[in-house]
Amino acid sequence: TIAQLKAREILDSRGNPTIEADVITSTGHVFRAAVPSGASTGIYEALELRDKDEKRYLGKGVLHAVDNVHKILSPALKGLNVVDQSKIDKLMVEQLDGTQNEWGWCKQKVGANAILAVSLALARAGAHDKKIPLYHYLAELAGKRTDKFVTPVPSLNIINGGAHAGNSLEIQEFMIMPTGASSFREAMRIGAETYHHLSKLLKKKYGKSASNVGDEGGFGAPQIKDENETLELILEAIQSAGHTGKIDIALDAAASEFFDGKTGNYNLSQKTGKNDRILTPDQLIDLYANLASHYPIKSIEDPFDQDDFSSYQKLTKRIGDKIQIVGDDLLVTNPKRVQSGIDGKWVNALLLKVNQIGSVTESIEASNMSQRAGWGVMVSHRSGETEDNFIGDLVVGLGTGEIKSGAPCRSDRLAKYNQIMRIEEELGNRAVYAGHHFRDTSKL
Ligand code: PGA
Ligand code: ZN
Repeated sequence: TIAQLKAREILDSRGNPTIEADVITSTGHVFRAAVPSGASTGIYEALELRDKDEKRYLGKGVLHAVDNVHKILSPALKGLNVVDQSKIDKLMVEQLDGTQNEWGWCKQKVGANAILAVSLALARAGAHDKKIPLYHYLAELAGKRTDKFVTPVPSLNIINGGAHAGNSLEIQEFMIMPTGASSFREAMRIGAETYHHLSKLLKKKYGKSASNVGDEGGFGAPQIKDENETLELILEAIQSAGHTGKIDIALDAAASEFFDGKTGNYNLSQKTGKNDRILTPDQLIDLYANLASHYPIKSIEDPFDQDDFSSYQKLTKRIGDKIQIVGDDLLVTNPKRVQSGIDGKWVNALLLKVNQIGSVTESIEASNMSQRAGWGVMVSHRSGETEDNFIGDLVVGLGTGEIKSGAPCRSDRLAKYNQIMRIEEELGNRAVYAGHHFRDTSKL
């Protein structure tokens, strides 16, 4: 049973405070988890509680969230059984916090960061109690098979733009997906080799500083002009690494960041300040459709603003049979928004970020709903991360077939990928690599 919860303020990969929690059991074991933090956050995400005390960490301290773990959650959870994940998550979310808005439980009192830290650590305690690995325990919680597990295709973010880099690219993430690999481990080798070839290419074409990296470890190359130039460079790197045909491409536009709410248009020249590339929603739809027909793009995330449902519907109808359209800021891992997205045919895939919703149980619910609707589910890190590798176990447990955790560079990113390599090794022939089936793993 739970004896006590302990929390503390630590620092994330950008040097900002975040919360880490320990679940301490009656047997004296300690189970720990840390919470990530986004930069291009969706407006419908559950509340990340920050102190707003400008004298500490520019207002980003999380001492109130830490306090809430000690004063609200710890006394209420004391004596509860660590394997009662859904019961305890429900208690924290619906009773101890209890705040709600039009999209459900919003964690405004205790903070989604405080609740999630405990929820993640609790899952580790539960797995230990059952004497099974975390990924196996998460599969049980989600009602998934446990005789065989799917290892995901990594979606490696090798060029960073948008809010994550100081260049003029508006599209936030250019990712490579080694779908033609035969295992996760081989996918990482193919991805890392391509990454190094891209580094050489960038230095040769644009000078040494072009291989400086952004928040997620991808190159932040300042002189690249636009998405076409970026995609050509990536194809060249794939070719010089000798991996042509084995790699698909994924984009995250994070378009809420370059949407102009006043005009309803999209400003693809916002960062340069030139304002010479402003597109209507229909022109942006054409741009994506053209990119998808010219390049091996298999996934586009957040192509429009988080409330521009009609553009989502149009793009999904137009190219959704060929490629994955993923909702991140659009859906914020929120079961109610996911249900609206399924009913309204907004997209055909969910981006699953545990800290957008704030508990393990609700994350599993959002994932299962999506899979039942025939959607893909890409498990995801945040741009601000820690060394915690929870989502490596989560993606294998849920068997979703795809994960994005940034570039094959920086240990905050690799903590997750490395964990999946360990899991794949441990599973041996009980592991099957998702490969080309990353959108639907049900027949693997
Ligand atoms: P964020 O970016 O963590 O800064 O929100 C990641 C993403 O948009 O997918
Ligand atoms: Zn995104």
